[in-house]
Amino acid sequence: MPQYEAIDWYDTPRYYDLIFDEDTTREADFIEAALARYGTLQRKGKRILEPACGSGRCLTELARRGYGVSGFDASQPMLDFAAERLRAAGCKANLRQGQLEEFRYAKPFHLAHCLVSTFKYVLDGAGAVSSLRCVAESLLPGGLFLLGVHLTDYSVEQRQRERWVVRKGGLEVTSNTQTWPAQRRKRAERVRNRLKVVERGVERRTETNWHFRTYNAAELRALVRQVPAFEVVAVHDFHYDIEWTGSLRDDASDVLLVLRKRG
Ligand SMILES: C[S@@+](CC[C@H](N)C(=O)[O-])C[C@H]1O[C@@H](n2cnc3c(N)ncnc32)[C@H](O)[C@@H]1O
Repeated sequence: MPQYEAIDWYDTPRYYDLIFDEDTTREADFIEAALARYGTLQRKGKRILEPACGSGRCLTELARRGYGVSGFDASQPMLDFAAERLRAAGCKANLRQGQLEEFRYAKPFHLAHCLVSTFKYVLDGAGAVSSLRCVAESLLPGGLFLLGVHLTDYSVEQRQRERWVVRKGGLEVTSNTQTWPAQRRKRAERVRNRLKVVERGVERRTETNWHFRTYNAAELRALVRQVPAFEVVAVHDFHYDIEWTGSLRDDASDVLLVLRKRG
C-alpha cells in the first residue's frame, strides 16, 4: 500500500490552485452576469469581497476585469500564494487573514461570493449564522451574496468518490476525494483528500482529512431565514449558467443561492 504524508492541503496552494483553476473563468463570468441580472446597484457594482478567498484565483480574474477585490482566508500559505498570483498578473487586492465566522469591513461591497461549498467549513450553527450576518453587514443595501453549497443526501449509505487529474508545465496532480455518509444528528460529514503529485519524475503522496457541516435543502433554507437582511432572489447550480434557474430542493446535488440584501 502506498504511504501518504498527512498534510493540510491548504499548505500546498499550488496543487489546490491547479485543480480548481479550470472553473475560474466560468465563475467570474457568472459573477459578472449575476451583478448585471440581479444587482440593483447596476453599473456601480465594482467592489467584490471573497470570504475564504484561498489561492486568489477568483480575486485575480476579477481584478483583471477591473473590479476592486478584497479577500480573507484562515490559511497564511493560501494568502501568500494569492498575493504572489495577483502580483504576477499585475493586479491588486486587499488581502488579510481572517475567519469566516466573524469578520468586518469598514467600506461596504456590491457583491460577495463564497463558492465551491467553502461555507461548509463553518462547523457549528451559531458560526454559520454569524458568518452570514457578517456578509450581510459587509454589503451595501441591494448588494448580492452568491453562496454555493453542495447539498447532503442523508439517505446515501456509501462513500462518494471524486477524481481529477490535472497536468500543467511538467506537474501532474491526481486528486482523489472521498466523502463518508453524513452523520445527520451531528450535521457533519467526513472528507478525505489524497493527492498524488509527480513533478520532474519525483512522486509525492499526501492526505488531508477534515469535516464539513452538512445541509439539505430545508437546513439551508432555515439558515437563510435566520438572517432576514437577506432575501433569496434566485437559485442556480455549479454549472454557472445564468440562463438556468432551479429551486432549493433536495433533488439538487448542489445549489448556488443568489441572496440580496434588503434595503
Ligand atoms: C475550497 S477552498 C476555496 C478557496 C476559494 N474561495 C476558491 O474558490 O478557490 C476553501 C478555503 O477556505 C479556507 N477556510 C477554511 N475554513 C475557514 C474559516 N473558518 N475561515 C476562513 N477561511 C477558511 C481555507 O483555508 C481555503 O483556502
